[in-house]
Amino acid sequence: MGISQKVASYLEKGSWIRKMFEEGARLKAKFGEENVYDFSLGNPPEEPPREFLERVRSLLDRPGIHRYMPNAGFLEAREAVAQAVARDSGLPVEAGHVVMTVGAGGALNVALKALLDPGEQVIVIAPFFVEYRFYVDNHGGESVVVNSREDFSLDLEAISGAVNERTKAVLLNSPNNPTGVVYGQEEIQALGELLRERGRALGRDIYLLSDEPYRRLLYDGTVFPHVFQYVDNAIIATS
Ligand SMILES: Cc1ncc(COP(=O)(O)O)c(C=O)c1O
Repeated sequence: MGISQKVASYLEKGSWIRKMFEEGARLKAKFGEENVYDFSLGNPPEEPPREFLERVRSLLDRPGIHRYMPNAGFLEAREAVAQAVARDSGLPVEAGHVVMTVGAGGALNVALKALLDPGEQVIVIAPFFVEYRFYVDNHGGESVVVNSREDFSLDLEAISGAVNERTKAVLLNSPNNPTGVVYGQEEIQALGELLRERGRALGRDIYLLSDEPYRRLLYDGTVFPHVFQYVDNAIIATS
């Protein structure tokens, strides 16, 4: 087949999450849905609420909805997102700050494409969502893995040690998949200061890419602080 060597090797090594998901589907077909417990993807077992489905169906009839839209998405949708982020962060966020994407994976890829020059580095905090390496590689970047501490908190010293003149971003995920850790305000504030100081010393902007698809899945009063409040150059990806 004429596919590139890179894609061929990706297919070979492939995402284990996807392989497990496909194995789950195979086992369900063989042994019955009710006999297989599939923890591979975050697929909700329930269908969406009826009101949501009705709203989506009614939007399909809206004149003009099936035509091209601005690249960043419908203004109305971006305004609604901006209002929600402004309310949560207490900052003046506008539609012009928002790009609609297909999920958090799409958002991270758009952000990395916009940020990375060839060979620039992105610090990822281990353990991390396994697709991150592919996302960074998709846009000519290099992943630099920095371990968390034993309790999965941020090892700020190690992050500082990994920053160099090729560092473009730190990719952070909170609430975290797979550890479940939620970074606290002091950690985010200290990370913001670190990126500001190291960036200033190196004469470059170092971005925080905050991957937050699980922000709304917080329980028992746990709060994940809003990164815009503590980090100068921050981008949030969500779904
Ligand atoms: C940490 C993390 N980031 C990003 C994604 C991708 O999210 P989406 O399905 O919205 O593209 C996932 C999906 O499992 C994830 O766990």
